[in-house]
Amino acid sequence: MKTPVITVIGSINMDMVTTTDVVPTQGETVIGKKFKTVPGGKGANQAVAAARLGATVHMVGRIGDDPFGAILRKRLEDEGVNVTGIEPVHQCSSGVATIIVSNEDNRIIVTPGANDEVTPNYVKKFKGVILSSDIILLQFEIPMETIEFVLELCEQEKVTVILNPAPARKMNIAYWRKAQIITPNKTEYNALFSRETAGNLLEKLIVTEGKNGASYYKNKEWETVSGFQVKPIDTTGAGDTFNGSLAVAVANGSTLEEAIQFANAAAALSIQSFGAQGGMPTTDQLKSFIDKHTAKD
Ligand code: RIB
Repeated sequence: MKTPVITVIGSINMDMVTTTDVVPTQGETVIGKKFKTVPGGKGANQAVAAARLGATVHMVGRIGDDPFGAILRKRLEDEGVNVTGIEPVHQCSSGVATIIVSNEDNRIIVTPGANDEVTPNYVKKFKGVILSSDIILLQFEIPMETIEFVLELCEQEKVTVILNPAPARKMNIAYWRKAQIITPNKTEYNALFSRETAGNLLEKLIVTEGKNGASYYKNKEWETVSGFQVKPIDTTGAGDTFNGSLAVAVANGSTLEEAIQFANAAAALSIQSFGAQGGMPTTDQLKSFIDKHTAKD
């Protein structure tokens, strides 16, 4: 089987993660349990997820010329991601995410920094890589004009795009139609797709629903592919693991149902370790997890 080529055009962040039993309300100070700095960013996370599953992955994104930038680029390189498309922005901080992990869930504030410099002109420099990819993965942590530019380009050149609209941002209906697969979570789906809009896009949507799995529209009905029940340690990056893995499975020619099951399993494994990228599985880990969990059925 040919190795799939996936290009991620998206964000690269340093995640500043505080684990706490109590989340403060406005004006309140609480004592947390643990603090850690780990690589993240929806784009970078999806790139790592796909690379661990054996895809050839190119990352197009920006880092600051601060110490975080160099660390983030090196980490991606160590994961086997091609980092030629990552250039530093002069006198700019890298993207950072402030994350609170509490009660088996998370809250995230992203400060984009250099991610705001992933402009259409910057992305144009990597047109060759984009057009030779099997799949482009896009999220919503870079400028909207860039997302629109990539969707337009890929439609013209017939390159498949998986669009993960996270965090939820409005976009003109004409652009949603240019993506082949759109993967909001339940909250993003409710925020972005009114009934009428969804009516035109139904066949493209895969709505992720955490431990319940993910739903897609088949033969004029919503079909849910069940999730795998595991004890979560940190759910950060579960959606990114889902998207990176989905891209690999789709590029490998899986049916949508098979691809969703594969991605559900990868997401279930990812939440059993700390950090967005910490628990993302390799192909062997994922295969043995699926074998173990489907053998019981
Ligand atoms: O999806 C999780 C990611 O969202 C984190 O790694 C954080 O950087 C934010 O981009």
